[in-house]
Amino acid sequence: MSNVKNTICEKVCEYVASKGASLTVENALSLLETPSDSKMGDLALPCFKLSKLLRSRPDGIAAELASALNGMEGVEKVEAVGGYLNFFFGNAKYLSDLQSVLKTEFPALKAIGEGKTVVLDFSSPNIAKRFHLGHLGTTVIGNAVRNIYNFCGYKTVSINYLGDWGTQNGKQIVAYKKWSSREILERDGIKELERIYVLFGKEAEKDPSLNDQARAAFKELERGNEEYLEIWRLFKEISMREYTQTYKRLGIEFDVWGGESFYTDKMPAIVEELRQKELLKLDAGASIVDLSEWNMPPALILKSDGTTLYPTRDIAAAQDRYNEYKFDKCLYVTSAGQSLHFAQWFKVTELMGKEWAKDLVHIPYGTMSFGGEKLASRTGNIILLNDVFDEAVAKARAIIEEKNVAHENKEEISEAVGIGAVLFSALSNSRIKDTNFTWEGTLSFEGNTGPYVQYTYARAASVLRRGNGGNDYSNHTLAPEEAELIRKLCEFEETVKRAANEFEPSIISRFALNVCTLFNQFYHNCRILGSGGETEQFRLALTEAARNILGNCLDLLGIKRTEEI
Ligand code: ARG
Repeated sequence: MSNVKNTICEKVCEYVASKGASLTVENALSLLETPSDSKMGDLALPCFKLSKLLRSRPDGIAAELASALNGMEGVEKVEAVGGYLNFFFGNAKYLSDLQSVLKTEFPALKAIGEGKTVVLDFSSPNIAKRFHLGHLGTTVIGNAVRNIYNFCGYKTVSINYLGDWGTQNGKQIVAYKKWSSREILERDGIKELERIYVLFGKEAEKDPSLNDQARAAFKELERGNEEYLEIWRLFKEISMREYTQTYKRLGIEFDVWGGESFYTDKMPAIVEELRQKELLKLDAGASIVDLSEWNMPPALILKSDGTTLYPTRDIAAAQDRYNEYKFDKCLYVTSAGQSLHFAQWFKVTELMGKEWAKDLVHIPYGTMSFGGEKLASRTGNIILLNDVFDEAVAKARAIIEEKNVAHENKEEISEAVGIGAVLFSALSNSRIKDTNFTWEGTLSFEGNTGPYVQYTYARAASVLRRGNGGNDYSNHTLAPEEAELIRKLCEFEETVKRAANEFEPSIISRFALNVCTLFNQFYHNCRILGSGGETEQFRLALTEAARNILGNCLDLLGIKRTEEI
């Protein structure tokens, strides 16, 4: 593809030069478009920008270019339609394109990130709370973005920045000492931690002095009180046990577990640096960085009692990550609710003159609700992630049983489909949009869903188990369904690149759905097995290419491939 594109652009540049103007091949390349309908050709050059450059009408330019470019090698036909120049590549081109998507390696993508490091901070729950729907976005978007960057050849470092250091930990300690014990905690695990946290909230409404006790307890923690540290370590251990199980279920791994507490001893240096650079201001006893010039509320660095805050820890952590990894980018995936927090402390690092400030990226996403219900975490009325997964798996199992196929590994398939369904739902909207899950919208095998993609993947895999492929099909004449499918498959590399640039996994999900639609059209309209000769060999090769690309899409999204459903 790229060779033909280059030749086309060279010729366009020659044409522009012959008119006394100038255009670089690179600029010409950026003008090319892929028509949405293949009746308009395989590639199009809209001539409107050229029209400005050459000061003549676009349709005239298109007509002149069409006659100049006709007969070019690798192009079957060039047509001028209005201000557009449309290129048709023809059979041979498709057959050679098919080769390029049959491969399983994508060296051009791998080269993009070579030698570069991306740090990703995602999931990062606050300890002592079970995963709820609010954690789904950061966890699965973060993981997908990581997969995408890995695929593009970057070295990635995934960091779970556990929320394990703040006033809430003081509350938990006070609550534990009043209403719980090590025995109960060992028995009930993280549920008990949640119970006493909710209880604390209720009691503190009646007796506000509890809040003072909590602040004092956190101050003790920061001072290194051994008794409190021991209780806190227990909270952390119990929480991590629970989290690790969920991550395992989702196939997510972290390279580093570096919670907020890890940075306590790195904060004084940052506070000192801020002071020396004269960025700190005293405000009612607290130390702040004034950001009014950028229309933002001040960044809080130290509370009046001297304890540190969320922004302080984030700045210290970013410095530490830079020292450690010399990142080219450091990404933070959180709900859009934290956008101001990130904008504020990013600005502070810029004011500190950090050369890496420009490489910090916040990746926000919208709220996720279930059947229209938003979660209300403080009241204890929350939708737990494990419950959502369990129910999804149960529903997937029921659907699979209804299809009445005898599977040996029904459990494994149900788990993959149920979880894949929830993941796909969370990854198929533009991330900044709010998502509302419904079971019908998530689990149907026919809609724009994860199961539909997994099912299509399994369909291709099953054809390939039954057919013997070959690669002798140079005389095969393509049916329109076949050409469409190849055309779409060839967009894979561009799609991954775009998803990486925009930190947007939904670009992959939507692409996968398009591939499925076209593959299924091909599957229904073109007989594969038993079609015989070159046709059968070609169709099996095309099926394999579709399976490869769909499999890669599922991998990137962090969804399991299902060889059979
Ligand atoms: N623990 C935070 C929360 O649950 C998310 C942390 C995001 N990462 C960061 N570096 N601030 O809301």
